[in-house]
Parts: sequence; C-alpha cells; structure tokens
Amino acid sequence: MKVLFATSEIAPLIKTGGLADVSGALPAALRAIGVDVRVLVPGYPAVMSHLPEQHEVAALRGLPGFPNSRLLAGEMENGVPLLVLDCPDLYQREGGPYNAPQGYDWHDNLQRFGLLSKVAAVLGSPDSPLNWRPDLVNCNDWQTGLAPAYLRFAHGVPSVMTIHNLAFQGIFPPSALQDLHLPASSFGMAGLEYYGNLSFLKAGLFYADHITTVSPTYAREIQDEALGFGMQGLLATRQADLTGILNGIDTDEWNPGKDKLLAKTYSASRMAGKAENKRVLQAQLGLEQNPDIPLLGVVSRFTYQKGLDLLLEIAPGLMEMPVQLAMLGSGEPQMQHAARELAERYPGMIGVHIGFSESLSHLIEAGADMFVMPSRFEPCGLNQFYSQRYGTPPIVHATGGLADSVINCSDETLENGTASGFVFNGMFAGNLYSTIARAVETYRQPKRWNALRKLCMAKDFSWETSAAAYREVFEKVLQQRR
Ligand code: ADP
Ligand code: GLC
Repeated sequence: MKVLFATSEIAPLIKTGGLADVSGALPAALRAIGVDVRVLVPGYPAVMSHLPEQHEVAALRGLPGFPNSRLLAGEMENGVPLLVLDCPDLYQREGGPYNAPQGYDWHDNLQRFGLLSKVAAVLGSPDSPLNWRPDLVNCNDWQTGLAPAYLRFAHGVPSVMTIHNLAFQGIFPPSALQDLHLPASSFGMAGLEYYGNLSFLKAGLFYADHITTVSPTYAREIQDEALGFGMQGLLATRQADLTGILNGIDTDEWNPGKDKLLAKTYSASRMAGKAENKRVLQAQLGLEQNPDIPLLGVVSRFTYQKGLDLLLEIAPGLMEMPVQLAMLGSGEPQMQHAARELAERYPGMIGVHIGFSESLSHLIEAGADMFVMPSRFEPCGLNQFYSQRYGTPPIVHATGGLADSVINCSDETLENGTASGFVFNGMFAGNLYSTIARAVETYRQPKRWNALRKLCMAKDFSWETSAAAYREVFEKVLQQRR
C-alpha cells in the first residue's frame, strides 16, 4: 500500500507543536509495518537546508491560481522519504510556517496551503507527473484540508483527513473560491462553505473518505456543541467514518536513558540522575536549590486551550504549599505577561522562560517532579506521554487524549498497576489546586511516589499499535472504494 502523508510541519526540521512530532514519527512506524509512506512538506528554509542536493523529481507548472513550483526528493534521518514542495515565492522566507516573525498570519496563507493541498491532490490524480503514485492521501489539519476536495473533483485516489485540532480551521472569504479555482457548486453547506466563508478544514471533513482524530475521547467530544467548533453536526453525520486513534511517541527521541539534552541520563532502575536534572533545572531557571521541594513543570503553548490561566490564578496559593514552578512556553501576550509577573513576585520559586527551546523542554520533563496540563480541551497531547516516560507524573484535566492516557492515582490503581498521574474533572481553579495538593501529598510518601513513578516509566507509548490502527483504516477505505 502506498500512502502520501501531507503535512505542514515535521520534527525535527520544522515544529510549532504536536503535529510536527506526529509527522516525524508516524510515517516511520507505518513503513516499519509495510506501508510505503512518503511525506509531502513545503520547502521552508529549514526544510530546504536539510536537503544535501536538490534532486528534482517533478515540475509543477500551470496549476491554475498558483505560481510554478517543483518537487524535490529527500529523506528524513529515520529513512522516511520526503517530497519537498519547492516554491520560493511562497515558502522561502524567514519566520514560522503560519506566521511572520512579528506574529501576524502570513498574508498569503491561502496560496501557501492552497498549493500544498493542490499538490497533494495532483499526486493522487490520474495526471500526476510523478512515477510514484499513492493509493491514498492522508491529510493533516486544515493546511492540507483542501486536498480531499481537489481529489474528488479530479477523480483521484481516496483520502483520509486527520484532525489534530479542530480549533484551527483555515477560514477565508468567499472570494477564495475563485482564487483557488474551485467549482462554484462546492460552495454550500454540502461542501466547503462554513457560515458564508470558505473553510479548508470543512472541505477535508466533507470530502474525505474517512476522518481520523488523535484520541478516542476527542472523537466523541467533537460531535457535541461544546468542543465541536461548529462542525459537530457534520461530524455526527459522519460518525461511521470517524475513528479516534491515540498518538504514540518517538521513543528514541524521548528516552531518559539516552537523551543527550539532559544533564544526566537515568532509567527506572537508576533514578539518581533524575535528581541531578532537577538541580540543573533549578539553577537554569533561577530557582532556589532545594532537592526536597516539589517542582512542577509546564511546557506549552500559552493559549486558552491549554488552561494555564487556572494555574496562574492559583500560583500564589501554591507558593504556600509550597511548590516550585518551572514554565516554558509562548503565546498569548497577556498570559506571557502574567507568567513573567509571577516570576518577579516569587523569585526563587517560579521560573519562567518565554520562547521555544527543545533542550529546556527535555530538561523540564526530566527535572520536574510533576508535570501540569490543565487543558480545557486536548485532542491528544504529547507531553503527558513524555512526562510519564521520564518518571514525572502528569496532573491533567480529564479531556480528549489526556483522559485516554493518564490513569488517576488511587489505592486501587496503584495496587492493580495502572496508576500514571493525577486527573481532575471540572475546569475550575479549585479542582486543579486540590489535585496538585493530592499529588504533593503522594510525593511526601516516598514508597507510594516511587511506585507511581515506576508504573509511569513502564508504560508503552510506542507508535506500533497506533500505526497498525491507521493501516486498518487505510485498508478499509481502499476496500470501500473498490
Ligand atoms: P500542541 O500541539 O497542542 O501544542 P502537544 O502536547 O501535542 O500540544 O505537543 C506540543 C509539542 O510541542 C510537544 O512536543 C512539546 O514539548 C512542544 N512544545 C510546546 N511548547 C514548546 C516550547 N515553548 N519549547 C519547546 N517545545 C515546546
Ligand atoms: C494538536 C493538538 C494536540 C495533539 C497534536 C498532535 O496540536 O492540540 O493535542 O497532541 O495536535 O496530534
């Protein structure tokens, strides 16, 4: 089976969040079980500089509405073949994949991701210029959401649309229909229209043969108004074609026994190194050097989704407990400001680093005692996996993938060997506070704490099972089309 995996980011080359982690690991896991996956990604500077030589495999000229472009072949370090979409007019510029360095959305995201979607569809269409022809295209999030629509109109191969986050939908004014050369008939409720505008994601959800999302709980949640972002009606009608598959993690990249970004490596049977990471983390963030005080870690985008406002709200109370707080992230300016202010108010107790840092993110996973994720919604979430693997029990709100991957610690779950963190229901500051208090109480009982950490570190979050579930979906879709 040949699958084209279309994505707008891929770790370690270009990453703003979990989609990059998934794109960097799932294709390799699929290849390991016999699926011939190739990854289509835009030729941003970080991707182009990864190509040792520019080996052109197809020229893409005269695509209506788009500048000329070409495909270059490359390879990820893990052996996954890359198809790099080289279009200097659209992708060769400094900044993020979606935003300019100043933070605003690129003015031409319509063309940038319109072209990415279009090319994914061209490669799955009868008139593809490439001699490798996929049996199916797997699209990821809104940036590739138009591909299923283009594929339908071109009588191309089937498609699977994977939702990593329904909150981002790629919405553009109705004039986009002409700019992208889409048929007027597609602009309706039964099509890619979303409340009078054009939505890339809606196109994917409507025209794809199957939809997947990144956890079973999120697959249910998005069929309801609260987390459906206006798509709940469509998703509920497509229930039979909607599958939740929990993400896995790259267990080489996230392995406390081998991690080069740590101050010291460690494992479940050699835990001493973890304390050294705590010491270095405290030093790096200007926290008081105290091995006994519980240290809470956060690595996150600072957005409403992640619920960090609750944590900031209870921070003064947490100082009384006491606990230390190590926070890494960036996002909404007010939240960044509030975090910085707290760090100034509680020197030695709260350390904040605003920005993106791969090495600090690993050090926090290893050096913190507990990891906090009070997300309002979380399609899957990856840090709760990383923190379990690093023996840093996560404290999470019971939503989406967090509900599917963290088992609340209690006498019963410690006994039956399933406990892996602390879970709260009800998105209220008081609930987060009492759950952190419960975690700290457990931390103060070394036997219980060590048992919990061991259980966390023994969990298997590798991609194998999930990759097999994706393959099953792909097979089903191909059978249905036959
Ligand atoms: P989301 O994709 O919604 O942001 P996930 O938990 O799925 O959430 O994935 C986030 C990924 O991005 C994780 O690998 C996390 O470690 C990483 N990350 C988030 N913020 C930062 C940051 N400021 N610095 C380094 N890595 C970060
Ligand atoms: C999104 C979600 C996150 C998920 C990631 C990878 O960014 O917000 O929950 O883990 O995609 O699927």
